[in-house]
Amino acid sequence: MPLAVLVSGGGSNLQSLIDSIEAGRVPARIVLVLANTPDAYGLVRAEKHGLPTAVVPHTAYPDRESHDRDVVAAIRAAGAEAVVLAGYMRLLSPFFIQAFPQRILNIHPALLPAFQGLHGQHQAAEYGVKLAGATVHFVDEELDNGPIIIQAALPTQEGDDGDTLAQRILHLEHRIYPQAVKWLAEGRLQIRKRHVVVDNAPD
Ligand code: GRF
Repeated sequence: MPLAVLVSGGGSNLQSLIDSIEAGRVPARIVLVLANTPDAYGLVRAEKHGLPTAVVPHTAYPDRESHDRDVVAAIRAAGAEAVVLAGYMRLLSPFFIQAFPQRILNIHPALLPAFQGLHGQHQAAEYGVKLAGATVHFVDEELDNGPIIIQAALPTQEGDDGDTLAQRILHLEHRIYPQAVKWLAEGRLQIRKRHVVVDNAPD
């Protein structure tokens, strides 16, 4: 399945996806890595692997939808059929979401529906939870809200702060995001109301 991966920063989740694809574990191709910030290190990672990149800076647009229209045009021009948000720090407009129905994935560094929004790991550390984790979900029109595909959890440790927790959660993210993309690429994800069902692998 041809994928577009959208980044705004370091792109370690992009890297784990690239590595999983190159190792033959995920039957997908990345046809575009797009950033809204020209200095996103994710772009460098993409170039190192010979992947096509694009920068569509949101600062050049008067509003969210006009930016999203150009982002969607770039994704379509690249031939991508699904969109993987990997640390893309932008809310998507309804226009964007409707352009790829049930074909946009996001990863959030908390066990949704807890700690939506920015810095989920830091919110969790501050709250004093005993279990923290990460969630991959379909994107819908509300922030960090769409149907959940996979979650992974870890126990917090005494002395954890937002940074130590974020680091350990990131390791979980690198495991579950490629897994979710694999299921998507294999056509095995079905959404029934809020529930995502993973079909058995074909024999
Ligand atoms: C991750 O923690 C992800 O959950 C969040 O943004 C961070 C991106 O990290 N949405 P990276 O750019 O993939 O390293």
